[in-house]
Amino acid sequence: MKFRRTRSLVGYWHQGQFVLEDYLAPKSSDVDEDNAMVIDESTWNFLCLFDDWMDMEAAVVASPEYTPESVREAVDALVEAGLLHTPEQTAREDLLVNEWANWSEEARFFHFGTKDAVYIGDDEDHRREAAAVALASGPPPPIFKTYPDAPRVRLPRAFLPLRGEFGEVLLARRTHRDFTGRAVGLRELATVLHYTFAPMYFVDAREYGTLLMRTSPGGGARHELEAYVGVLNVDGVAPGLYHYNTEQHSLELLDAEFGATEVDRLSFGQEMAITAGFVVFLTALLKRATYKYAHPRTLRMILLDAGHLAQTFDLVTTATGLGPFQTAAFRDSEVESALGIDGISETALYLLGAGHPAGPVDGHPIDMTVARKPSRR
Ligand SMILES: Cc1cc2nc3c(=O)[nH]c(=O)nc-3n(C[C@H](O)[C@H](O)[C@H](O)COP(=O)(O)O)c2cc1C
Repeated sequence: MKFRRTRSLVGYWHQGQFVLEDYLAPKSSDVDEDNAMVIDESTWNFLCLFDDWMDMEAAVVASPEYTPESVREAVDALVEAGLLHTPEQTAREDLLVNEWANWSEEARFFHFGTKDAVYIGDDEDHRREAAAVALASGPPPPIFKTYPDAPRVRLPRAFLPLRGEFGEVLLARRTHRDFTGRAVGLRELATVLHYTFAPMYFVDAREYGTLLMRTSPGGGARHELEAYVGVLNVDGVAPGLYHYNTEQHSLELLDAEFGATEVDRLSFGQEMAITAGFVVFLTALLKRATYKYAHPRTLRMILLDAGHLAQTFDLVTTATGLGPFQTAAFRDSEVESALGIDGISETALYLLGAGHPAGPVDGHPIDMTVARKPSRR
């Protein structure tokens, strides 16, 4: 019989102890568990021997400091704990190593480590218990972020009608990468920000206080996402970097020097971002979500929330007559530094933008090959 160290182990220090977690091992979604095991130094050293397949006799020879009997017992215990695998046990990890070959350990650990969480939504006792723990940690975080001392532009509430039938808007939405250079109107910008990011309704969430509702869904209505607007070419608003204050419907000036040069750098020189009328940096203010949800799976929820907001942004810009784009390619740390956020309690997630499209606006991607002939294979 041969043995090999399990391929899906991640090690870290937890409360002063070193643990190995097998993120691929099956987990229950009825009981909270994480397949993490405390590892001492001798176990660590012993596991290092099993980088590749090794049989019991070779393990005994490689461990002269231990008796053969204790080596056999250790191997059996490590197989039992799932830290060593036999050839019959490696189908899933071999598939993982093969299928996820282009992605590093970070992506694997995040994805599999946040799988199979316990659902607590319908359990009133658990809900009350979680709320008590949250409240004991302090008051609920504010639902609005504000820069009280910043100069501000109060945006008009004379919103433009969202043009077109819903189906037409849906079909017309395309990612635009060419803009005419014509300034985006003040009412256009105000309309997009309002319908995408501003509160539409408020609700009483009992222990959690008042929560807001947007046009997009947001996990637990935590609405942890904030919008920062890089104004490049908008009628009536000086170029610069602003925070969108959703309560006031105002733009709070953070940096009057911010312009196309900075967007060029932050977006890796993507032409669509530099020539847009405005860009929006989407960030997550994590406390709003972590306050209620203690489980790391909540990070998945936040990423899903960002997707919802981006799609709404795309549809609203389209309905306003603008052309949207979105990109995940930006210099995270430099964006966070430009926004003046620490990247830990609040972190950059997404870059959106819009301008007057230079290309067709009926949604048909005319500049692309429509379709290839079916191949004979
Ligand atoms: C998460 C995400 C990231 C994207 N990143 C880029 C990007 O970096 N550069 C780019 O030109 N387009 C980017 N796009 C746009 C896609 O290429 C585009 O959505 C896709 O080609 C389909 O075209 P459509 O949006 O017009 O339907 C991104 C889209 C999404 C959803």
